[in-house]
Amino acid sequence: MVKAVVAGASGGIGQVCLILQPLPPPVGDAEQAANVPRDSQPLSLLLKLCPLVDELALYDVVNTPGVAADLSHVSSNAKVQGYLPADDGAKAAFKDADVIVIPAGIPRKPGMTRDDLFNINAGIVKGLIEVAAEVAPKAFILVISNPVNSTVPISAEVLKAKNVFNPQRLFGVTTLDIVRAETFVAELAGKANPQELTVPVIGGHSGETIVPLFSQIKPSVTIPDDKYDALVNRVQFGGDEVVKAKNGAGSATLSMAYAGYRFAEKLLKAIKGAKGLVEPSYVYLPGVPGGAEIAKKTGTDFFSVPIELGPNGAEKAIDVLGDITDKEKTLLDACLKGLKGNIEKGVTFAHNPP
Ligand code: NAD
Ligand code: LMR
Repeated sequence: MVKAVVAGASGGIGQVCLILQPLPPPVGDAEQAANVPRDSQPLSLLLKLCPLVDELALYDVVNTPGVAADLSHVSSNAKVQGYLPADDGAKAAFKDADVIVIPAGIPRKPGMTRDDLFNINAGIVKGLIEVAAEVAPKAFILVISNPVNSTVPISAEVLKAKNVFNPQRLFGVTTLDIVRAETFVAELAGKANPQELTVPVIGGHSGETIVPLFSQIKPSVTIPDDKYDALVNRVQFGGDEVVKAKNGAGSATLSMAYAGYRFAEKLLKAIKGAKGLVEPSYVYLPGVPGGAEIAKKTGTDFFSVPIELGPNGAEKAIDVLGDITDKEKTLLDACLKGLKGNIEKGVTFAHNPP
């Protein structure tokens, strides 16, 4: 039996039924656009469709009874239940969960950085991880809420304080950066199917902390010199592209639901024994086999590298730093400058919340 939880289940990482909603307001009316009702979530829908999930618990501060009732009519295996904060709903939702996915929190508006979300989202993630530590201490936890560079260190510190931290079971979801890199490289290289490409993206999940390693694309693709900087920039700032286009109505939701599901599905398959499944993720390196050596090189404990997944979660951190080019070294230096501050900010918050 596999129980999966989505915390933040009524949010926009989805909107698969947007065409059933009232028509969106005209472009430019940002405030109204932000209030377009959202009552469904493709990440939850995808998990409902997943044959590896037996029980799906949807937790949010609003609307989960409706989302759960709706999804429960989908003719797939998973039993769906919605939970609200009343009557210790978070505890009931998280109880004995195997996998907890957390997209709870506010998204960006144009002009904001992910770090601008810290003041609100840090507390939300901290509270949810405290519940997870209490009622599902062995769960695999997938943190989507931004700023991931800081919310994952917060999660680790909370789990440590409760003596239930297993670094092989805590993942910052950076899959959207890989998805974007695959898409943009395939476009540039004229490849029909982006999913046939493996493009490692390492570091963190914001702007310059995102480091695509185009020298390690498999099968190999040569990026022309005059296209390199623009391609790096597009992968690093792909999130901004969506935030700007949505014009105040939030950030990436559909592509994120795909990315979050892609990671969750790989993990679920790996837990069940499938071999050879690798996906980059932002983890606590010293606690993952192979990670300590990488942490020595980067000087950071939290960092995203390709992770081999297995029954214990993160079975192995794969060192891709050995073969990087001079251009990639420059990108890595810039990444580490920003990332260290983001990590410190998260750790400090976890120990001294305001
Ligand atoms: P949204 O505002 O549409 O939805 C967030 C949901 O979280 C809302 O339904 C809200 O009610 C809920 N929520 C707030 N506080 C909560 C709490 N304490 N417990 C449970 N639920 C709570 O936002 P969204 O577009 O779904 O984005 C959610 C988060 O995911 C944002 O922080 C965004 O930046 C992040 N995100 C991350 C990635 C990534 O690649 N890691 C990609 C896209 C979005
Ligand atoms: C993304 O990369 O799309 C997400 O982190 C959301 C954002 O704020 O850009």
